[in-house]
Amino acid sequence: STEQALLMAKELEQQDGRLPKSIKDGKLETSDCYWWCSGFFPGELWYLYENNPTPELKKYAGLFTERLEKVQHVTDNHDVGFMLYCSYGNGYRLTQNPAYKDVLVTGAGSLSTRFNPMIKAIRSWDFTNNGKWQYPVIIDNMMNLELLFAATRLSGDSTFYKVAVSHVDRTMKEQYRPDGSCYHVVDYSMKDGSVRNRHTAQGYAHESAWSRGQAWGIYGLTLCYRETGDRKYLDQALKAVRFMFNHKNTPEDLVFYWDMDAPNIPNDYRDASAAACIASALYEISTVDVPEPQTYKAYADRIMESLASPTYRAELGTNGNFLLMHCVGSIPHNGEIDVPLNYADYYFLEALKRKRDIEQKGSKGC
Ligand code: GLY
Repeated sequence: STEQALLMAKELEQQDGRLPKSIKDGKLETSDCYWWCSGFFPGELWYLYENNPTPELKKYAGLFTERLEKVQHVTDNHDVGFMLYCSYGNGYRLTQNPAYKDVLVTGAGSLSTRFNPMIKAIRSWDFTNNGKWQYPVIIDNMMNLELLFAATRLSGDSTFYKVAVSHVDRTMKEQYRPDGSCYHVVDYSMKDGSVRNRHTAQGYAHESAWSRGQAWGIYGLTLCYRETGDRKYLDQALKAVRFMFNHKNTPEDLVFYWDMDAPNIPNDYRDASAAACIASALYEISTVDVPEPQTYKAYADRIMESLASPTYRAELGTNGNFLLMHCVGSIPHNGEIDVPLNYADYYFLEALKRKRDIEQKGSKGC
């Protein structure tokens, strides 16, 4: 994977400010730093550097991380957490560069401007879906909380922590169904904070279970348990895990269909990104105080075995130098269907690191 990432890095080195996104019409598709996925490639380079600390990997990890510097001032959407934590967060963890710390704390401040104390949650999108929504919060937002927890640790300012806890509490209450699955979008009233709609944007139907949404929820709840020690987040994560692994449509190789209720199962698209993100969360769950932790590790190992097989793992020199094939961005928007996506690669490498740490060091690894 280092060779593939370095080929990608060298291809983009001279393209000012550009970051890899996916493949379109057989060609590498790139973005600027404001696309929500801009932090994943720098994050991958940091994971590769952690495993193999060469000056070359460090140089490219720093170069692509610093392409996101302006993101710290973004206040018009919630993705600042994804973007900065994967890039600057990993960079700071591995280098202790004080400039990176400042970016993380400023970015957390920008993200916190989207918190509404009456609604008790961070607004995900300004987009209102042609006036259908007033204050849309999507399950993906759980991932952005990691930046807020980190910013409290780095700055000593507990405001970020409080915003994160308020957001996860409201999300757990409003976004989860009794069966352990979650809605993609919850729309709140700006007048009184009540729930107006429970919808989907990227899933098959409002009442279906969009697989990547389930992944964001499982991973997000697990990180909230890690950061707060509050067991209720872990219990909800375990319920969501049971939903995914006991579902009648869970495929044998554990690389989920793009939606658990997708209409053409078993002849429907898989989403390797959802599987990779869930695998990473499961490794973390297998290191905490849960009954039968080995079950979670075994699920994660099975996902990783599938993703590492030729069915999903691209050979060197193919797939635009992305690591994994067969991901889905958004079928309802007819975008990024059965393509590589940089976040699948990011969570795949993170999961590999966690697996390695667990297997090398015993039970503590995340
Ligand atoms: N956060 C957007 C997505 O998962 O597609």
